[in-house]
Amino acid sequence: MITGKYPELRLRRNRKVSWARKLVQENTLSANDFILPIFLIDGSNKKESISSMPGVYRYTINRLGQIVDKAIKKGIPMIALFPKTKNSLKNEIGSESLNENNLVCKAIVEIKKRYKNQIGVMCDVALDPYTSHGHDGLIKSNQIINDETIEVLINQSLLQAEMGCDVLAPSDMMDGRIGKIRKALDKSNFQNVQILSYAAKYASSFYGPFRDAVGSKGSLKGDKKTYQMDFRNSDEALREVALDIKEGADMVMVKPGMPYLDIIKSIKEKFRIPVLAYQVSGEYSLISTAIQKKLVNKDVIYESLVAFKRAGANAIVSYYADRLDKILL
Ligand code: PBG
Repeated sequence: MITGKYPELRLRRNRKVSWARKLVQENTLSANDFILPIFLIDGSNKKESISSMPGVYRYTINRLGQIVDKAIKKGIPMIALFPKTKNSLKNEIGSESLNENNLVCKAIVEIKKRYKNQIGVMCDVALDPYTSHGHDGLIKSNQIINDETIEVLINQSLLQAEMGCDVLAPSDMMDGRIGKIRKALDKSNFQNVQILSYAAKYASSFYGPFRDAVGSKGSLKGDKKTYQMDFRNSDEALREVALDIKEGADMVMVKPGMPYLDIIKSIKEKFRIPVLAYQVSGEYSLISTAIQKKLVNKDVIYESLVAFKRAGANAIVSYYADRLDKILL
């Protein structure tokens, strides 16, 4: 690889001025690279701040226009919807997930009616925003039961597809759900609804602020280690991805993001498929707090995002997506 040697070879020559550096730049970011998560709440005319995520808000359906307009204006291709369900609507089996008048369903209908295909809408498939115990699946004798959970996830997927969701993103980590959801979608004439599988989703402490944002923090009993992956493992991520591709996933997600750049890179190299990265709430809040405290300057945001591109990600879910400076992009 290395030809020549010092003093004839001086790598600093390509870094001497800004134009020279631009010429040899290997990775850049544009608005096309982002997915913006949006939190939803009940009620009307509210834009509620989230104490654990400075700069991020929950919106009522009638205030969604404000943030969706902004995303479209910036050129962001897709938003991801996450509901904060009222506690009174949560129960053991998460039945609110199947209510066609739930927050997510109402938001999809509203956004698709108003914006058509100007922006893509992605929705999580999982039960945690709806269960009283905060888990992604159903519980029987203290176990998260896989196959019974999938039956509910299939119905949640069909409902969200029917409302107009463009991309379904199962984030539950049950075994075999991608294939079953794909089959059910195809049978109901939703062949064009894409599946973005959270294929390599780790049991991570970086999700803390998100659980606060969707209101599942206090209620979560135990942890998610029997279904989300052990962060000590990487071969296992490749097995998860291989299975999900076979079952019909169009794209796969690695989550969290920055601590798992090695996983993004190896999935990209091995499978050559669209790989997305999720810069999760804990990453967002750590970076934002450090900026607020002036421990680092705001350029760390751009640096953290370029890292995903360097690792091979096609797109990045980021809570910064709506506020990235045009100059940075
Ligand atoms: C739910 C879900 C989680 C996130 C996205 N979807 C949390 C979890 O699995 O507990 C986390 C996102 C973030 O931290 O920003 N299945």
